[in-house]
Order: sequence, then C-alpha cells, then structure tokens
Amino acid sequence: MTASETSRQVRTAIITGGASGIGLATAYKLAGSGINVVIADFNEETLSKQLAAFEKEGLPVAGYRVNISRPEEVKGLFEFTRQKFGGVQILVNCAGMVGPNKPAIQVSLEEWQSTVDVNLTGTFLCCQAALKEMIPAKYGRIVNVASIAGKEGNPNLAAYSATKGAVIALTKSLAKEAASAGVIINALAPAVIATPMNKDTNQQTLDYMISRIPLGRVGQPQEVAEMIAWMASDACTFTTGFCFDISGGRATY
Ligand SMILES: NC(=O)c1ccc[n+]([C@@H]2O[C@H](COP(=O)([O-])OP(=O)(O)OC[C@H]3O[C@@H](n4cnc5c(N)ncnc54)[C@H](O)[C@@H]3O)[C@@H](O)[C@H]2O)c1
Repeated sequence: MTASETSRQVRTAIITGGASGIGLATAYKLAGSGINVVIADFNEETLSKQLAAFEKEGLPVAGYRVNISRPEEVKGLFEFTRQKFGGVQILVNCAGMVGPNKPAIQVSLEEWQSTVDVNLTGTFLCCQAALKEMIPAKYGRIVNVASIAGKEGNPNLAAYSATKGAVIALTKSLAKEAASAGVIINALAPAVIATPMNKDTNQQTLDYMISRIPLGRVGQPQEVAEMIAWMASDACTFTTGFCFDISGGRATY
C-alpha cells in the first residue's frame, strides 16, 4: 500500500474517558470529520447516554465500558475495536481522576495508589495495547492528556501532579521508541477547562486559577478538542514526544 493510499483510509480512534468533558468533545470533533470512534469509559450511565446522542446524530461512534487500570479490560477494549472497526490508528488517552485533594501528609497509600493506577498505569496500558497494533502497521497517532499540574505541580494535589508529570515523561519515552515505526506520540497540558471534573471546585479556587491565566477565563472542552484533533491527524508529521500547551497563556513553555 502506498503512503497516499494509507492516508485515504478511514481511521479509527479510541478515546478513553470519551463519555465526558474533553474526551466527549474530542469524540464529536473526530466523528464529525468521518473518523470511527470508540468511546471507552467506566461510567456506564454517561456512556449509554452519550452513545444514544451520537446515534441520534448518525455519527460513527461505538462505546465500550472499561476501567483502564485493569489490563484484562484494556485488552477487551482493543479486541472490541478490532472486531468493530478492524483496528485502531488513533488513541486519545483522556480518562483521568483528580485523586486526593488535600495536603500530602494526609494522603493515604490507597488514595495515592488509586490515582497512580488510573492516571499513569491506565495510560501506559492503553499506549502499550495501541503500540502492539500501530508499530507493525507502521502508522499511529497517540495523544496523552496530561495537565499543567504535571509541569508546575499544584499544592494539595500531589498524586495528580505526580501522575501527570509522569504521563509527560512516558510520552517522551514512548515517542522515541516508536518514531522509526511511523507512530507519533504527543501529550498536552491543559490549564483549567470547563468540564464535569471541575464541577465541585469552589468559586474561590476557580477565581485563583483564572487570575493566573492571561486570557482571563477557563478553557472550553471544544478548544482542547481542536488541538487534539490536529495532534491526532495526518497533518502532525514532524513533532513527537512533545507536550503542547493549552493554558490560555498561563504556561509559555
Ligand atoms: N478539566 C480540567 O480542568 C483539566 C485540566 C487539565 C487536565 N485535565 C485532564 O483531562 C482529562 C479529561 O478530563 P475532563 O476534564 O474531561 O474530566 P471528566 O471528568 O469530564 O472526564 C473524565 C472521564 O474519564 C472517565 N474515567 C475516569 N477514570 C476512568 C477509568 N479508570 N477508566 C475509564 N474511564 C475513566 C470518567 O468516567 C469520565 O467520563 C483528564 O485526564 C484530566 O486529568 C483536565
């Protein structure tokens, strides 16, 4: 198959955390441009609600219930995608949790471990499963959603900040491994985005976060989806192992 034939293929994307927030906005963006999408999420209620909405609009979206921290469930997700769409060319790792929001000295080992299991190990397991298909196919795009917390470290969010920093390092490592196989892997680091993840954040904390953003507002999930769509596309050809900023100017690196 020639390079131009490959680029004409209908792509398939797996979006973890695809039933809500940034993942959901990304699913609409990719499916709207003709990409087959599997939204993979462990919240069955939002998953079935969103699948019904996609179906109503006639978009090519399937759903799979998965806890990304469980290797056998991740295996099931990739098997499902192979059967449904014949394999995966795009992986967007969006599933994540905030974890303990308190001083580090009060964090239990259980709270720490569950955050690592989802944000870091879950992202790794999905990357690993995707690479097993993408490397032999000599094509792939992986986008790992990290956070500004992983670059700067947020107080009272030690587990979240540490796991997101680790996702950035994981991205750099995997990108160097997979580059020669035509697989491009990047991360991105959003500042505060208006999604259900922030629904319990109090106004004072939100005001503080906004005060640090030169553009003076929170970001919208659709704005993040636009960047992810480009990072996951054939147009992204000479950047790999990078962490893109989407922080309204809070981080300029
Ligand atoms: N919203 C923000 O301000 C912000 C900022 C920086 C980074 N992020 C990151 O963006 C990503 C998406 O966050 P969001 O704001 O859209 O949040 P969200 O809560 O709206 O969506 C996250 C989704 O992930 C799913 N999920 C959680 N744990 C899972 C697991 N173990 N297996 C499968 N699915 C699981 C949830 O069910 C949910 O649907 C996260 O990785 C988050 O850390 C968000």
